[in-house]
Amino acid sequence: MKLLITGGSGLIGSRIIELLHQDFEIVSGDRTSHQNREIKNIFLDITDKNRVSEVFIQENPDIVLHLAAIADLELCEKDHNLATKINVEGTRSLVIESKSHNSHFIFMSTGFVFKGDRGNYKEEDKPEPQNFYAETKYQAEEIVKNGGCKYSIIRINYPYRANYPLKNDCVRWMIPKLQNKEEITVVKDQFLKPIFIDKIAEGIRLIIKNKKQGVFHFADTSYVNWVDLARGVAEVFGLDKSLVKGITYSKYIEKTKRTKAPLDVSLNTEKTAKELGLKMLSLKQGLEEIKKQTKEKNSELKL
Ligand SMILES: NC(=O)c1ccc[n+]([C@@H]2O[C@H](COP(=O)([O-])OP(=O)(O)OC[C@H]3O[C@@H](n4cnc5c(N)ncnc54)[C@H](OP(=O)(O)O)[C@@H]3O)[C@@H](O)[C@H]2O)c1
Repeated sequence: MKLLITGGSGLIGSRIIELLHQDFEIVSGDRTSHQNREIKNIFLDITDKNRVSEVFIQENPDIVLHLAAIADLELCEKDHNLATKINVEGTRSLVIESKSHNSHFIFMSTGFVFKGDRGNYKEEDKPEPQNFYAETKYQAEEIVKNGGCKYSIIRINYPYRANYPLKNDCVRWMIPKLQNKEEITVVKDQFLKPIFIDKIAEGIRLIIKNKKQGVFHFADTSYVNWVDLARGVAEVFGLDKSLVKGITYSKYIEKTKRTKAPLDVSLNTEKTAKELGLKMLSLKQGLEEIKKQTKEKNSELKL
């Protein structure tokens, strides 16, 4: 079975390729060259409709796993045109081609589509995006849902993994700071259920194997604030928990002037457990796994 992946060089995509390349014939469409991988790499800029069309004719994929996006909140706020071109229009071109080639379209979305004032969101809850990144992902979801192809939408928040020097995630940035005995100040009134990326790969495998369509929420079982998360990281990695200090979200925004993210977009995963049989990990289990994988590899983190 042939799987065309976009965003295969990113935080999530590169790990999915590592974990799924033995199960599927993977073709990765990227703007930058990654000839060192064991899969087929082709050039693809998803904003170029003609190239998207050419790639579908050439590859005729059974599955399209669409991860490419601008996932940077600040950049999306700063450049609405670029965010729309990539996150919305890029998705549209891929959906159109997936329909005409009868490919199953799997789209990676975000819990940020929700308002974020209560958490525990279910798949059928009404989206109410609060920033431009979320708006583009919501518009892309609508294109996927109404595009006439077989589709699955996976929503996640705060993905983390081991060994990816190109981009930090909600866990890895803390480790060197705590190792250097630096204090870290994190938000105490924003709540999250992060997701261990290896579980996303497992969920994708189940979606494909069982031909499951619709929307699915993936998240760890643990519901935490950033202080709990940072102290959990310190505990698992044998670092000093007292270096973790809490701040309110409003103070944090006042200090950093960053784009506001919702306070609680945690996702309910009951449907995913029932329909896919995907068993999620607790945060502690995910962190233990990161520690193990970091030790096994020549990682950017030194433990
Ligand atoms: N990270 C998160 O916190 C998070 C949370 C929820 C959902 N998601 C979603 O998960 C997906 C993957 O996120 P990520 O964190 O892995 O992203 P990432 O590390 O920022 O990677 C983004 C990927 O998109 C590719 N890309 C961007 N513009 C492109 C274009 N015009 N044509 C082709 N490829 C293009 C990039 O390729 P180049 O290297 O060539 O630029 C890169 O491979 C995204 O859809 C994101 O919205 C992420």
